[in-house]
Amino acid sequence: MSMGKKIMHWVDARFPATETYEYHMSKYYAPKNFNFWYFFGVLSMVVLVNQLVTGIWLTMMYNPSAEGAFASVEYIMRDVKGGWLIRYMHSTGASAFFVVVYLHMFRALLYGSYQKPRELIWLIGMGIYLALMAEGFFGYLLPWGNMSFWGAQVILNLPAALPVIGDGLAEWVRGDYIISGITLNRFFALHVVAIPLVLVGLVFMHLVALHHVGSNNPDGIDIKKLKDKNGVPLDGIEFHPYYTVHDMVGIVVFFICFFAVVFFFPEGGGFFLEPPNFEAANSLKTPAHIAPVWYYTPFYAILRAVPNKLGGVVAMGAAIAVLFLIPWLDRSPVRSMRYKGILSKIALTVFAISFVALGYLGATPTSDIATLAARIFTVLYFLFFLLMPIYTAIEKCKQPPERVTGGH
Ligand code: HEM
Repeated sequence: MSMGKKIMHWVDARFPATETYEYHMSKYYAPKNFNFWYFFGVLSMVVLVNQLVTGIWLTMMYNPSAEGAFASVEYIMRDVKGGWLIRYMHSTGASAFFVVVYLHMFRALLYGSYQKPRELIWLIGMGIYLALMAEGFFGYLLPWGNMSFWGAQVILNLPAALPVIGDGLAEWVRGDYIISGITLNRFFALHVVAIPLVLVGLVFMHLVALHHVGSNNPDGIDIKKLKDKNGVPLDGIEFHPYYTVHDMVGIVVFFICFFAVVFFFPEGGGFFLEPPNFEAANSLKTPAHIAPVWYYTPFYAILRAVPNKLGGVVAMGAAIAVLFLIPWLDRSPVRSMRYKGILSKIALTVFAISFVALGYLGATPTSDIATLAARIFTVLYFLFFLLMPIYTAIEKCKQPPERVTGGH
């Protein structure tokens, strides 16, 4: 026996190294027909690692105080060698995270990946999504720019809309009568320690749940039904080496796009880094137009679409909460949009258009016509979910094939 094998033997007797590797990689049988949409899970992991690594490096030089925060970011950008690169990788990474996660979630809607037996994968995914939104919000205050300050001002005032406990709650969250260094300090703790721990824990559970039931696929059929004599699914291939190599292609293409933004377009036209954030926080100078970063704007548009503040907060909360219910709202006998009926196809298209339109409206200043449009798209957004039990039950679906289509 070679030295390497002996060592592995020794380790395996004490720790399930080979067993875990085989279970999750070399003997994990993934469907043959993964397509473009299946890149975004692994890309979410790549971005997560990017955020953790660049975040740790930023923390080495960042100063979490009202007096020092803005200057320390300028110091990172101008004086620290390669500091600009680390900061832009982190700020661009935040937007990239939401790009890949939104596409990843859309894939689940497209192929019914949330349906039985994958409900928990979806629910854990929604937990990840909430944690990600919190992580982005806390992180945005840290540069202590003027939009950091006023953006947080708008959001931290939302609890004040609640009757009776509202004002006290808002003060408790801020830790002060106004947003101050105390708020900044707690946001720093949450952004750098608490939420990343939650995120990493949830991503781990997400993958454990996925590998327990097996991946869905673009045809939405169960590949475990047909197995060869060794118990290997006929339509499955080993994750390693086939998908590890396949995923490398996606990762390389992603990095080309990502670094094109980091090097040539880091402000993303004011969407990734907003212009008012290039000046320090100033409680006496409200930016002309306060809008959250693009990835929150669909929900911000829903908040603004409702005339009453409390109603807006409730609608915004409901818009996120209703996503949790999808596995139980979809009554379709098939998973994939390929075999669902015309009503589901129309509903998903209208939903996707509404979400993008709300995102646009949430990022632009209000006007009568914009408010009307936001109200219409808010109603369409909710109808997608509320009517789902009906249209998925009454429409005529196609019979899915026995074997996956399009695999090589
Ligand atoms: C940090 C964020 C996330 C990471 C790292 C992540 C990672 C992954 C990976 C690696 C896969 C397997 C590969 C693939 O199917 O693309 C996967 C599958 C899945 N994820 Fe995520 N995910 C994240 C967020 C989410 C969110 C926010 C949702 C939905 C709310 C979600 C729902 C799902 C579902 C339903 C599957 C099963 C897909 C299928 O088998 O067709 N994930 N995830």
